[in-house]
Amino acid sequence: MQTQTAEKQAMHEDGHEIIIRTNELGKTYYRRAAEPVVALEDATFSIRQGEFVSLVGPSGCGKSTILNILGGLIPRTEGSATFRGQETLKPRPEIGMMFQAPVLFPWRTTLQNVLLPIDVRKENRKDYVDRARELLALTGLSAFENSYPRELSGGMQQRAALSRLLLQDPEVMLLDEPFGALDEFTRESMNMELLDIWGGSGKTMLLVTHNIQEAVFLADRVFVMTPRPGTLARVLEVPLPRPRQIPMMKRQEFTDMVFEARVLLNAT
Ligand SMILES: Nc1ncnc2c1ncn2[C@@H]1O[C@H](COP(=O)(O)OP(=O)(O)OP(=O)(O)O)[C@@H](O)[C@H]1O
Ligand SMILES: [Mg+2]
Repeated sequence: MQTQTAEKQAMHEDGHEIIIRTNELGKTYYRRAAEPVVALEDATFSIRQGEFVSLVGPSGCGKSTILNILGGLIPRTEGSATFRGQETLKPRPEIGMMFQAPVLFPWRTTLQNVLLPIDVRKENRKDYVDRARELLALTGLSAFENSYPRELSGGMQQRAALSRLLLQDPEVMLLDEPFGALDEFTRESMNMELLDIWGGSGKTMLLVTHNIQEAVFLADRVFVMTPRPGTLARVLEVPLPRPRQIPMMKRQEFTDMVFEARVLLNAT
């Protein structure tokens, strides 16, 4: 009985369910005929249900590694990573992922690529075509629904991959630099679309970005990592209210936090 209560408490924080928790999470890549690479060490954090967390850190510090472990795509080598108390040892439908390089099938059009999760789930495409088109409109790809990936720019491919994830509509979204290939203005409008979709949905977001302003603007908390072997150096609580609006970027609290993250990243 007592253990159950302790477990329940461990699953909740500030009245919110802890949906993702890691404890001393580590990953070493063992390679044939080469030295092992310690990619991640001792990363302990928890994410509340419905929270928006950004993950920033220098290239090679293990950000994609964390996402891949949480998505159940690669095994950890140390510690633990759990989703609702269960180890993330395999992919699960509640957790969706957008990869750093958009994974689109070259023989499928944009619309067909967006509808891929529906085909995988063996559901009826017809029930989802309208929503898929809506998402393509949202991401500015309406005119390209019949184009093939090779006919899209890098940024457009990213937006197609994001539309696919949004159609899949998982409870937890792991986003690996979703807007990395976008120009400043498109990025800003995609940021606002993403916040719109997230707001009030109860979805949990973990977004990797190299753009510190984006990290702070979107998130409730920013996880700052150190260089390889990466670990979590600091957690910053973003003091801005919701809903976020672009003019908030002019606020002192915003610029202070961006500066703080920048200093941490330079110092780490
Ligand atoms: N499959 C693999 N085999 C061997 N080493 C790997 C493998 N995947 C990643 N690594 C190494 O692990 C470290 C962390 O990689 P990871 O992709 O997680 O970094 P990252 O923080 O996402 O970097 P970036 O910001 O450049 O995307 C790097 O040194 C990388 O070389
Ligand atoms: Mg990466």
